[in-house]
Amino acid sequence: MREGQRGAISGDLLGQSPAILRINEQLQKAALTDVPVLITGESGTGKELAARRLHELSRRSRHPFLKVNCPAIPDQLFESELFGYESGAFTNARESKAGKFELAHGGTLFLDEIGELETGLQAKLLHALQDFQVVRLGGVTERTVDIRLICATNRRLEVEVSRGGFRSDLFYRINVLRIEMPPLRERLSDVPVLMDHFIRFYSERFGERPAPMSPSLLRLLESYHWPGNIRQLENLAKRYVVLGGEENVVSVLETSDEPGAPICEAIDLTLPLRIQTKRALQQLERRIILGVLQANKWNRRKAARSLGISYRALLYKIKDAGLPPVRTFKPRANNLTIHDVEEASTSTAACDLQGKVSGGGLQDQRVSAS
Ligand SMILES: Nc1ncnc2c1ncn2[C@@H]1O[C@H](COP(=O)(O)OP(=O)(O)OP(=O)(O)O)[C@@H](O)[C@H]1O
Ligand SMILES: [Mg+2]
Repeated sequence: MREGQRGAISGDLLGQSPAILRINEQLQKAALTDVPVLITGESGTGKELAARRLHELSRRSRHPFLKVNCPAIPDQLFESELFGYESGAFTNARESKAGKFELAHGGTLFLDEIGELETGLQAKLLHALQDFQVVRLGGVTERTVDIRLICATNRRLEVEVSRGGFRSDLFYRINVLRIEMPPLRERLSDVPVLMDHFIRFYSERFGERPAPMSPSLLRLLESYHWPGNIRQLENLAKRYVVLGGEENVVSVLETSDEPGAPICEAIDLTLPLRIQTKRALQQLERRIILGVLQANKWNRRKAARSLGISYRALLYKIKDAGLPPVRTFKPRANNLTIHDVEEASTSTAACDLQGKVSGGGLQDQRVSAS
């Protein structure tokens, strides 16, 4: 499995929505060329996965795919990391070293989070991208590199350019072919297939056999607004596999439900108005019920009175909305957080966790030439 792509698939990006089918098509077309590609989209929408897929589909697939996480490199090391150095170029440079540009020769160089690059470094990068010739620090030899450039950002670079935070000449250099990853809330019909994929993946990985998710929980997930996109969904699947119990999934959705969060964010470009309206109403009703239950310390009789519905009707609605029947967790305090689960999944401690926490506790897509 590739580092940083846990649970990743090989082959097309998962999903059946027109939006993701279009992305897969765009990647296939882009792979036939060598032009620079800029992948944009919110955090967790699959930008890196798309970049890797593009590389796999291209004629460069047998050559390296090198990722540079731009903000992770300290400014003073940026040049030596990217362009390399000759021995004696600076103190401690005992041996010559090739930079990422050279190491990616024949393959793909992926500049992740390029929008975070400081303007001075943007100029140096632009210089190298002008003719794909690099000179190691302290050296004189110009080395021509044959690379395919892919950049990714969750920033709106056009806005950064107009604000002066991103060089326009660099922007035009990298933004030749543009692929926009849609947020998950715009392709909610992909939620079941993604959930199924990640549950299978983590079940195998952790040797667990979780019960299938109930239809009401799946409906809830399909009407959720997914601010953290596929990464959030993946973490939720991991949590479900490790901890078991639907209430552990619901509790996370609750804590991510900011009080002021927009209710009708879940717009799926692929679904008719009627279905979307129904979903939005269900989501709104779920939030109201949840709020009233919380206000009544999860006393369902009091909550039913306050909502002006019968106790039985409330029980039915709680079940239908995928909410836990009783308050089985305390929000936040003593909770196992998603972060804990992530930590666990990267270590062998994952299985121990179960004992420790028993009892709960817890638009148009476009490939544009510019
Ligand atoms: N279509 C998809 N099918 C299966 N897995 C996916 C899909 N899209 C994303 N993922 C998974 O979701 C996770 C997040 O994806 P990725 O790291 O590529 O997103 P990103 O846009 O680069 O996020 P960030 O902006 O936070 O860096 C990864 O584990 C990735 O494998
Ligand atoms: Mg990324």
